[in-house]
Amino acid sequence: SEPAFIQVEKEEKIGIIRLNRPKQLNAINRKMVSEITQALEEMDKDEDIRAVVLTGNGRAFAAGADIDEMAEDTSVSLEMLNQFADWDRIHCFKKPLIGAIQGFALGGGFELALACDLLFCGEDAQFGFPEIKLAVMPGAGGTQKLTKLMGRTKALEWLWSGEMMTCKEAVKYGIVNRVMPAELLWEETIKYAHTLADKPPLSVRLIKDAVNKAVDYTLYEGMQYERKNFYLLFSSEDQKEGMKAFMEKRKPDFKGR
Ligand code: HXC
Repeated sequence: SEPAFIQVEKEEKIGIIRLNRPKQLNAINRKMVSEITQALEEMDKDEDIRAVVLTGNGRAFAAGADIDEMAEDTSVSLEMLNQFADWDRIHCFKKPLIGAIQGFALGGGFELALACDLLFCGEDAQFGFPEIKLAVMPGAGGTQKLTKLMGRTKALEWLWSGEMMTCKEAVKYGIVNRVMPAELLWEETIKYAHTLADKPPLSVRLIKDAVNKAVDYTLYEGMQYERKNFYLLFSSEDQKEGMKAFMEKRKPDFKGR
């Protein structure tokens, strides 16, 4: 069945997921998360897709989890719902996931942005965790990821204030890769996604996999893990082709196997 809260498109080797509740500033309800997860899993299996762009629609990327939906929740209802199982599955996506962020990325919307591998944003983008104003706190990784990005003292200041940071600040803290005029955001992000789509896909995904391990593992463990991925690439046809093309002074033709 057609998703209700997102739009899914394909442009050559790029998958596109657009959050689509603009009147509610793309407030993320549970159905939307499961639709995002399902779309990503289909794109992971689609051999033609090499990178995915996740974006918003209208004035926001997403202004947070849907407050109307959460208002009457209890700890017991949340435990039994296990909604974060869907959020966790977003992190299992193996291809590059690029966020194109315009307008608000707040609360769960900021967390969804932080689930992307790279973030490009328009100059109008604003990031923040306003949960404290609702007497709650982030629940989809916000406290953990913000702290790993900017350090404990800065993260506490942002999380306790609930204020929004500009994209310039987001760049300074290493949250965002590139800032650009809002009217260029889409074109630039798609262009970048296409360049990534032309790279050897096995290298692309095993690099992502190893870099993600650097966040969780000790340096020694991470280096062992990296080595296995390095060895694994030598089972690919693309590695043979890449090195042969270099020696023959011609352009390689990568097949993704
Ligand atoms: C439900 C939301 C919403 C949200 C906006 N809307 N954010 N509805 N949940 N998170 C709705 C508004 O109610 C309004 O609906 C419409 O979208 C437009 O928003 P306005 O407030 O009229 O726009 P504006 O005055 O420009 O203010 C923008 C804003 C404000 C500053 C972003 O909307 C805002 O503060 N939103 C809530 C942000 C927030 O607290 N996010 C964190 C949620 S908790 P109507 O029907 O009135 O037009 C969270 C926890 C995550 O994310 C846990 C892990 C999943």
